[in-house]
Amino acid sequence: MRFTVAIDGPAAAGKGTISRAVAARFGFAHLDTGALYRAVGVKGGDPVVAAQTLGPQDLEREDLRTGAAGQVASKVAAIPEVRAALVQFQREFARREGGAVLDGRDIGTVICPDAEVKLFVTASPEVRAHRRWLELGGDEREVLADVRERDARDMNRADAPLRPAEDALVLDTSEMGVDAAVQAACDLIAARR
Ligand code: C5P
Repeated sequence: MRFTVAIDGPAAAGKGTISRAVAARFGFAHLDTGALYRAVGVKGGDPVVAAQTLGPQDLEREDLRTGAAGQVASKVAAIPEVRAALVQFQREFARREGGAVLDGRDIGTVICPDAEVKLFVTASPEVRAHRRWLELGGDEREVLADVRERDARDMNRADAPLRPAEDALVLDTSEMGVDAAVQAACDLIAARR
């Protein structure tokens, strides 16, 4: 059985939590595609070469989740050759036997335009910054500034900008909370299977 769930949205909207819950519920494999761009960013050197030679050891680094890694990820993610080097791996993952959930920015629009289920998970910048601050600590105003900067970079780049696919279900988790969003996602998937 091949079945692809595409979950896109801005930083700290709840994509990761929803993706993991959906993957566990339906027995699908999960790929956090942001980790690919984070790994390219923290690897250093020429980002195009880093993307072309990315290996499993790069994805196991402990410093991938930091705020700095998120910022450098969104810079290298604007380079078309970096994105191109990562497309095939993501598409193969999406069509693996047994079903797959991919979360990112461009899964429903570019990587898997034919995904069986597309969700766009969002929340206000303040709510997302507060969640990221609970997770990472630091100065909450700085976290908010970081979130806004990364949103702007991801939405305004020319190649694969962050936006909902036309046929995506939009879930605003600042209104409904992540638990209710998980339920809505599971209901939609169950209805399409
Ligand atoms: O989701 P996460 O915060 O880990 O993503 C880090 C950065 O990687 C994003 O800000 C974005 O610039 C980039 N990204 C992307 N396309 C994806 C996933 C992440 O451009 N599919």
